[in-house]
Amino acid sequence: MNRRQAIRNTAALAGAAMMPAPLFRLFDNGIFTKKDFGEKFIWGTATASYQIEGAWQEDGKGPSIWDTFSHQKGHIKTGENGDVACDFYHRYASDLELHKSLHFDAFRFSLAWARLLPNGIGTPNQKGIDFYNRVIDKSLELGIQPWVTLYHWDLPQALEDKGGWPNRDIIGWFSEYVDLATKSYGDRVKNWMVLNEPFAFTGLGYMLGWHAPGRKGLKNFLPAVHHAAMCQAEGGRIIRSNVPEANVGTTFSVSYVEPKNEKPKSQKAAARFDALLNRLYIEPMLGMGYPTDTLPFLKKIEEKIAQPGDMERLAFDFDFIGLQNYFRLVAKRSLTVPVLWANEVSPEKRDVPEDRITEMGWEVTPEGMYHILKQIAAYPGINKIHVTENGAAFADSLENGGVNDTLRVKFYKDYLANVLRAKREGVPVEGYFCWSFLDNFEWQEGYRPRFGLVYVDYATQQRVVKGSGAWFRELLGA
Ligand code: BGC
Repeated sequence: MNRRQAIRNTAALAGAAMMPAPLFRLFDNGIFTKKDFGEKFIWGTATASYQIEGAWQEDGKGPSIWDTFSHQKGHIKTGENGDVACDFYHRYASDLELHKSLHFDAFRFSLAWARLLPNGIGTPNQKGIDFYNRVIDKSLELGIQPWVTLYHWDLPQALEDKGGWPNRDIIGWFSEYVDLATKSYGDRVKNWMVLNEPFAFTGLGYMLGWHAPGRKGLKNFLPAVHHAAMCQAEGGRIIRSNVPEANVGTTFSVSYVEPKNEKPKSQKAAARFDALLNRLYIEPMLGMGYPTDTLPFLKKIEEKIAQPGDMERLAFDFDFIGLQNYFRLVAKRSLTVPVLWANEVSPEKRDVPEDRITEMGWEVTPEGMYHILKQIAAYPGINKIHVTENGAAFADSLENGGVNDTLRVKFYKDYLANVLRAKREGVPVEGYFCWSFLDNFEWQEGYRPRFGLVYVDYATQQRVVKGSGAWFRELLGA
C-alpha cells in the first residue's frame, strides 16, 4: 500500500464511523443550501456518448475515432475500450429514473455523430436518430431537461480518414450534422452546446497524440484549432436558425493559472499557459481574434490557415458559455517544452498533501474555481455562465453494499461554495453540472479513475449511489 492509498483508507474509515450524519451536518453548518443559488439555478449532471453508451456497432452506428484508437494496442493505459462502457444504450431508461431520484433538473449528454451519420455525412441512420429520441422523450417524461452536446470527441472515423479536424472541409461536414441533429430534436431540446472543450480534443488528439486520433505536432494542431473554432461559431448559427427559443452554448475547459513565484520569467510562463488553456477559443468567439500577443506562434493561423472573412465568422454571441473546471495550474518557465516554453509544477513537487490530489493527479483547489469564474466573467460579452463540468476521481471501493466517498463530498461542497462566492460577487453563473452521473470510461486512463456520483460495477452493470450521490439528493431534495 502506498502513502496515498493509506491516507485514503484512513479517510474512508473515519467517514464510515460517522455515516450518515455528515450528509445533514454540512447544511446545518450554514455553509449553503440549494436556495442560496436561487430558484432558477440549473442543477444537472454531465456525461458523454463514448464514455457511457457502449453498443459501439449496434443499430447501424459507424465507427468513431475512439473506437479505432481504443482498439489499437498501447493507447489506453489499462488496455480497455468503450465497446460496452456503462451500457447506457440499453439501460438509459432505468438510468434516467435513477438520475431523477437524485433530484437533478437537467441531464447533459452528447450525441454520437456516427450513430446519426455512420459515414459522418450522407445518408442518415434512422435507428441511431431514434435512440436519442428515446433518451429525450424519457427525460421529458420524468421532468428532466435534456442538455445536448453536439460534439464530445467521437468524430466519425470516415471523416478522420478524409483528414479529420485539420481538413477545412470539416466546416461543411459539421454543418450537415448539426443541421440534421437540430432538425431531429429541436422540437423538444432547447438547451444545446456545440463543442465539448475544443482545447482538450485538439490539444490531446492533434498536438500530443494522447487521445484519438493520436496525431501530433503544430502542423495538425493549428489547422485543427482554427477549424474547431470555426465550427463552434457555425454550429451556434445553425442551432439558432433551426431551433426556436434555443438556449445556445458551447463549453470550454478552464484552469486558473498561477506563477511558481513572483519572478518575471515565471509570470510570463503563467501568462503563456493562461493564453493556451483559457483564451485560445474564448477570444475568437468574442471577436477578439487569437491571443497572438502572448503566443506569437498562433499568428500562423491568421497568416496561413484562415481564409478571407474567417476572422469575422469566428465570432458568435452565444446565450451562455459552459465552463469546465477541475484544478488550478502552477506554471514555471521551461526550456524543454518547445513553443510554449512553460511547464507545470506538479502538485507532488509542491508538497501538496496526498488527500488533495485526485486519482488523475490533479490538485484539489476549490478557490481556483472562484478565480477562474471571475476571470472569464470579466470579458465584455459574457452574459451567462453554466459550470457544465466539475468533479473528481477518487479511489472508491464498494464495501458492505455502499461507497463512502467522503473526499468527493468534501470536494463538491468546497467547489460549490466557491461557485456561490463568485455568484454573490456578480458572476452570472446560473447552472452547475457534476462530472459525472455514472463512473465511466475515462479516455486514455480506461475505467480506473471513477468520477461518478453513482458507482458502476462493470462486471454486472449494477449501479450503487455513492455517498456523494446521496449528498446531492439531500441538497437538491430539501
Ligand atoms: C471531459 C470529460 C472527462 C473529464 C474528466 C473533461 O475534460 O469533458 O470527458 O471525462 O474531463 O477527465
